Amino acid sequence: MTLLRVDTSVRRLGSITRELADIMAATWPADQVVHRDLTGCPDLHAAWHQAASAGFLPEPHWTPAMRRGKALAADFADEVLAATEIVVGAPLYNFGTPASVKSWVDLLITDPRFDPRHTLPGRALAGVPLTLVIARGGSYAPGAPREGWDHATPYLRRIFGDLFGAEVTVIAAELTAAEIDPALAELRPQADLSRAEARALAERTAAHLAERRAHDRELSTGTTGVDVG
Ligand SMILES: Cc1cc2nc3c(=O)[nH]c(=O)nc-3n(C[C@H](O)[C@H](O)[C@H](O)COP(=O)(O)O)c2cc1C
Repeated sequence: MTLLRVDTSVRRLGSITRELADIMAATWPADQVVHRDLTGCPDLHAAWHQAASAGFLPEPHWTPAMRRGKALAADFADEVLAATEIVVGAPLYNFGTPASVKSWVDLLITDPRFDPRHTLPGRALAGVPLTLVIARGGSYAPGAPREGWDHATPYLRRIFGDLFGAEVTVIAAELTAAEIDPALAELRPQADLSRAEARALAERTAAHLAERRAHDRELSTGTTGVDVG
């Protein structure tokens, strides 16, 4: 059993997505957590470019860079497919998903196991619990001036839920910029509430998934531990 934790916030200190991902990882033994910090993979876009270009050439004609791009995509695909559960931390950047997440997803899709031309939609991660932990500096709630401007969350749901078939839970903290921007000081109580609610939901989700794992373990022990003597 493995939790794959993917972080993408450019902040190490004070990151709310990392804090929420910590809560999700806390119910796992440390040696069962695989941590993929995409901010430590600076060439993701270039690797994707090479892997995607390889799709237009027969394999014997691939350049060394194309081979490296395809190999990285296969490594990422192996890592994702080996996970029992997945947590993806994704801050809202410029009204979209972090470029690292987009390139990581694009790279995965160059692998036949995630490519919708080779794998039916909903198959790659069918039934795998995947928690998206999101932080947004502003508010995109119904009625807010920028309602509908969060283009990241619907995209991430579409990819992980509809395309890959994971069982997606979204946990989002809003108005996080109020903490640091004096112009938003009056929104701090709302920001604090949103963060507290996100933490509480992360705790409940982590506890629920831990119970499910324990149940699954019991079932598998029951089946494999049958005394046939
Ligand atoms: C480069 C950059 C772009 C951002 N763009 C947006 C944005 O479009 N909308 C928004 O609500 N917040 C935006 N923010 C604020 C972040 O979403 C917010 O700080 C969030 O808490 C970051 O996640 P983290 O706390 O895990 O680092 C941006 C922050 C950065 C650094």
